[in-house]
Amino acid sequence: MDEAPALPQTRLKGGVGQSIRHDSGAKHVSGEARYLDDDPELPGTLQVYLAMSPKAHARIRAMDLAPVRAGEGVVCVLSAEDVPGINDYSPVFGDDPIFADGIVQFVGQPLFAVAAPSLKQARAAAKLAVVDYEDLPAAVTMDEGVAFADAAGEDLLTPHEMRLGDAASALAGAPHIVEGRVETGGQDHFYLEGQIAYAWPQEDGDVVVRSSTQHPSEVQHNVAKAIGRADHAVTIEVRRMGGGFGGKESQPALFASVAALVALKTGRPAKCRLDRDDDMEMTGKRHECRTDYRVGHDGEGRLVGAEFHQFIRCGYSKDLSGAIADRAMFHADNAYDLKAAHIHSRRLKTHTVSNTAFRGFGGPQGMVAIERAMDRIGFDLGLDPLDVRKRNFYAAMGAGEPGLTPYHQKVEDSVIAEMVEELEASSDYRARREAVRAFNARSPILKKGLALTPVKFGISFTTSHLNQAGALVHVYKDGSVHLNHGGTEMGQGLFTKVAQVVAEEFQIDVERVKITATTTAKVPNTSATAASSGSDLNGMAAQAAARTIKERLIAFAAERYRVAPDAIEFLPNRVRIGAVEKRFSDLVGEAYLGRVSLSSTGFYATPGISYDRETASGKPFYYYAYGAACAEVVIDTLTGENRLLRADILHDVGQSLNPALDLGQIEGGFIQGMGWLTTEELVWDKAGRLRTHAPSTYKIPTANDRPDDLRVKLWDKGRNPAATIFRSKAVGEPPFMLALSVFSALTDAVIAAGEGRRFPALDAPATPERILSAVRAVRAA
Ligand code: MTE
Ligand code: MOS
Repeated sequence: MDEAPALPQTRLKGGVGQSIRHDSGAKHVSGEARYLDDDPELPGTLQVYLAMSPKAHARIRAMDLAPVRAGEGVVCVLSAEDVPGINDYSPVFGDDPIFADGIVQFVGQPLFAVAAPSLKQARAAAKLAVVDYEDLPAAVTMDEGVAFADAAGEDLLTPHEMRLGDAASALAGAPHIVEGRVETGGQDHFYLEGQIAYAWPQEDGDVVVRSSTQHPSEVQHNVAKAIGRADHAVTIEVRRMGGGFGGKESQPALFASVAALVALKTGRPAKCRLDRDDDMEMTGKRHECRTDYRVGHDGEGRLVGAEFHQFIRCGYSKDLSGAIADRAMFHADNAYDLKAAHIHSRRLKTHTVSNTAFRGFGGPQGMVAIERAMDRIGFDLGLDPLDVRKRNFYAAMGAGEPGLTPYHQKVEDSVIAEMVEELEASSDYRARREAVRAFNARSPILKKGLALTPVKFGISFTTSHLNQAGALVHVYKDGSVHLNHGGTEMGQGLFTKVAQVVAEEFQIDVERVKITATTTAKVPNTSATAASSGSDLNGMAAQAAARTIKERLIAFAAERYRVAPDAIEFLPNRVRIGAVEKRFSDLVGEAYLGRVSLSSTGFYATPGISYDRETASGKPFYYYAYGAACAEVVIDTLTGENRLLRADILHDVGQSLNPALDLGQIEGGFIQGMGWLTTEELVWDKAGRLRTHAPSTYKIPTANDRPDDLRVKLWDKGRNPAATIFRSKAVGEPPFMLALSVFSALTDAVIAAGEGRRFPALDAPATPERILSAVRAVRAA
């Protein structure tokens, strides 16, 4: 037996629960982190420009590309007829042509691709095309979309319904009803790194594509489809994205397909990189949503039933709109037990870019109406809206019969009442309510508003089969580890968290775990890194892979050192084998010599979830994430300008894998949600042209919009009752909806501006213009 000297007793560096930095944090701020466009280009690389439709809806009578082909430097021009496979990059329905084929359906739709040594040449040549259009009637706005569908007798996707109990008779018998309409605008993802793909041709017509994508497997499949080859001919790689936010789930397949088509046609590497304006015009956004609501209560603010009619503006094609509109329905209740509910959803076509996934995936749109209703009930009854909210939360976990959602899932893990109680105290809500009242009484022009709102967000893809993940772990002879999994890194810190899981499992310092680029060649058939489930799914898969190797090491050591397997213990960077201790790396070296496999895949599928869309019932969510936020705002009643003064947030991430990263997600999600509800406004003109396609006109929140006083806290009692990775909870999307507190606080301030006479109509984004007209309306009353 080896005589091992006593090893230093160190603490594990970077295990689960430690607030280590994002693995690329320093590189992000120094500019050393490589994004796809930073990679050195191979010699002969072509730059690809996509020509875009100037028409919202038109038939292409003729398209003469000969002048483009003759353009300076032009190497290749591709249009619909040059696609050897299928001219489509859609995720599901086959209705997103790569290149317009006979018809265009939105301003910005790609017509053809031009490849040249420089982007300038490609862009200049593209302008030489002669296209003859026959204009067709276009529906641009939500109203036009509704009229278009009614005239056609058909929506883009079949309307869908969810029912709990008998909402109609509950409402008929309700002592009081609030009703109204609320609209929320779309939102551009405004990832800092725009859409980009770089393809280089391989032997036998194969292709490798680097793509800025949340969904490498889908990009792989779509590229294969476009080039007319099997999936195995295509490899997709992505080290990191400069933000995705849902905008890189289905959209990147277009640019990857185009780059691959050019690369295979010319035999040269090809890059397709959009500038900001083109990106904003060409890619889908958050769905604009309209909800007509009727909510009944007992006269003291206790709900008896609710009815929602949701209208979702999908744009020209289906994309992911079905699942997004479903998720809006799944979140119409937010954290409230509606008792009886009827939710109706229409998915409308407009001749605008096809809207797509965006943080929350319809959830934020779904929640707005019930939060409006809460504010309205409070107003009508002269109650603080917080008290109305508190009367309606789902029953707390373990406290009697769990409430039933409109899709018949039991809410068995609700902690919202307790969290709100805690935030109400820690934010000093009641005293600040008085202070706001006092301020408003003596301030004629500036008016303050205050609100505290909850979030309950369902975790899992509601398309159940997507809830699976794979990982690949290698342990090298020196004890260092190579980690790969199907998840992608977009700034959220997934790679760091999964590395922490593997470090914890092996009990080695996290710097011994090499984080590597996602590639379809290592882990196949992955789901998008989406639905906030990246660490839930990939963390489990990586843990399974590490455990397999660990078990082999244990079996090897038990036999080699003649000890029982349970006498072997993994301690920080070392292993105790009966009475001896060894470095982890030494044991690994011995295992290698002992011909033990030190590589393993891991796989995970979320257990116990299923959803029957036919009956709109089941258990689509493995668990719920909860949070609450208290926002205090001030508005200027002369200009409508507004500002968030202070926000207090309490959010439940279960037992955090990494508190520092989780706090970053909460802060970022909240501010992004605030942007959606306040400043970010997409404006299309009558001709269907997006007029806000650059930061000059489209206003995302800046560092200056972050409130001076922002207090974010992880809920210290948080523990996921569901058996997730180390009992953590997903955090990527839920905090986005905490920003509903800002919208409610703005409503509260407008009410104050009207001396409490009238409840204001207010739609999102609550821009200064909208706030000003709301103030005028309540003052005119
Ligand atoms: N955080 C950053 N920094 N950048 C992003 O693009 N995307 C959000 C969220 N947080 C995003 C982000 C979205 S839409 C989702 S679904 C999750 O991260 C995806 O990652 P996760 O599943 O690992 O949380
Ligand atoms: Mo997030 S919208 O699920 O990519």
